[in-house]
Amino acid sequence: MTFDRLETTLRLRGGHRLHGAVRVHGSKNATLPIMAAALLCDGEVIIKHAPRITDVSVMEALLESLGARVRQQGSNTLRIGAENIGQTRAPYTLVRKLNASFDVTGALLGRLGRAEVPLPGGCVLGTRATDLHEQGFRALGAEVRGERGYLVAEAPNGLHGADIAFRFPSVGATKNVMLAAVYARGTTTLRNAAMEPEVVDLANFLMAAGARITGQGSDTISIEGVDRLHSVEYEVIGDRIAAGTLLLAGAITRGTVTVQGTEPAHHDALLSALEECGVTCSVGERWVGVDATGTRSGTDILTAPFPGFPTDLQPMMTAFLATCPGTSVVEETIFNARFAYVNELLRMGGDIRVQMDSNAAVVKGPADLEGAPVEAADIRAGAALVLAGLAARGETEIAGLEFIDRGYERLEEMLTDLGAQVQRSSGIVALAESASSYETTTIPTVG
Ligand code: UD1
Repeated sequence: MTFDRLETTLRLRGGHRLHGAVRVHGSKNATLPIMAAALLCDGEVIIKHAPRITDVSVMEALLESLGARVRQQGSNTLRIGAENIGQTRAPYTLVRKLNASFDVTGALLGRLGRAEVPLPGGCVLGTRATDLHEQGFRALGAEVRGERGYLVAEAPNGLHGADIAFRFPSVGATKNVMLAAVYARGTTTLRNAAMEPEVVDLANFLMAAGARITGQGSDTISIEGVDRLHSVEYEVIGDRIAAGTLLLAGAITRGTVTVQGTEPAHHDALLSALEECGVTCSVGERWVGVDATGTRSGTDILTAPFPGFPTDLQPMMTAFLATCPGTSVVEETIFNARFAYVNELLRMGGDIRVQMDSNAAVVKGPADLEGAPVEAADIRAGAALVLAGLAARGETEIAGLEFIDRGYERLEEMLTDLGAQVQRSSGIVALAESASSYETTTIPTVG
C-alpha cells in the first residue's frame, strides 16, 4: 500500500559561484518578541519591516487567540490592536509550533496580572528550561507554578521592581522579564542580561511606546515602571542570521556577496571567523560583504551569547567549514542537541565527526560534496543543507521546506538574485516506495 502526499521541496544545482548584492528582510527574532510586546500597548502598534514568514503568521494567530486584532498591510507591515485583550491562556496548539511564543508570558503578566502559557519543554535543538524566566517573575512579585504542562504566573495586585541577577544571559528570560517589568511599580535591574541585538530592538520598541529603559545592549538593563504604553510605529532591524546565511552562501561558493540592510556591528564574530578562513570581509553603512575567491582554510568555532559566535549560524558555518582545507572544531555551548543535521551533510560527502560528550563536531575538509536528496529538521539545519547544496556537484533536493519558510522570506529568490540555480517544486510523493514525481523537475544548466 502506498500513502501519497503533496510535498514541496527545494531543488538546487550546485557548483556556481554567487555574485552580487541582496537586501535582507527584517529580523525574525526581533519581530516575534515585538509582536508579543504589542500586547502591552494601549493603542495601535504598527510594526514595519516584519518578515513574511510562517513563524510570524503563527504569532499573529496567537495574538488573535488572546483577543488582539492583527492586520497585515502590504507584505511587511503589521497593525496590532491589543486595547481589549482579556484572555490570559495561550493555546497549546499554537505555542507548540513556536518557541518564541513563550514571550507572551511576560507581556500577559505585565498587562493583565496573569499568564498561562504552555511550557516549551524541549525542541529539536535540545532542552528549553524556564527557571530563569520563573526566577525573574517571582522576583517581580508573581506567584509562579507549573500546572498540567502550563506555566501559570499570577500577580493580582501588580508587580514591583526588583534587582535580578541571572546565572546565564538567557535571551528568552531577558525579554520576558523586561516585558513584565515595564508595568511594575518602581525600578527593575536585570544583571547578566542578554546583549543580543534583538533584545536591544525590543527595548527600543518599548521605549518608542513610552517605556523607560536604559542599558540595553550591555549586561545590565534597568526598567523604570510606567502606567501606560501608547500607540507606536516601529521599524524592525534587519535579520542578522538571514544576512549571515547569505554571506556564508557567498563564502561556500567561493563568490563575492554583499548583503544590504544589516548592521556590521551585528556580525563581528562571523566576520572574524570568516577572515580566519581566508575570506576577505568589508563593511559599510548598513551593509556587509564577503569575497571568498582566494585561498581558504578551516578554523575553530565556539558558539556563545552575543557578541560571541551565534548558535543560529553554527549549522551553516559547519557546512562552510566542511568545504575548507584543514581540520576545524565546532563547539556548541548554547543547545545540547544541535548537530542532528550533520547526518545529512555526511550523506552529501562531508567528513564530520560529532563528539556527543563535548557537544562538538570535528570537521575535516575540503570535502567534495555531492548533491543528494536530504531533509531539513529545523530552520537553520535547512539553511545549512541549502548552503551545502550550493557548493555540491549535481542536484540537491531538500525536503522539510516548511522549516526554512519559518525563518526565511523567499530564500530561493534572494539566492537566485545572486546567481544560484534553485527552485521550489511541488509534487506527489509515494511514501511506501520512496518514489516521487514532481511537477517541476528540470533546472536549466548554466555555464
Ligand atoms: C536562543 C539563543 C538565541 C537564538 C534563539 C533561537 C543564545 C544565548 N540564545 O535564544 O541567540 O536566536 O535561541 O535559536 O544564543 N536556559 C535555561 N533556563 C532558562 C532559559 C534558558 O537554562 O530559564 C538555557 C536554555 O535551555 C538554553 C540556553 O539557556 O540551553 C539558551 O537559552 P535562551 O537564550 O533563553 O534561548 P532562546 O531565547 O531560545
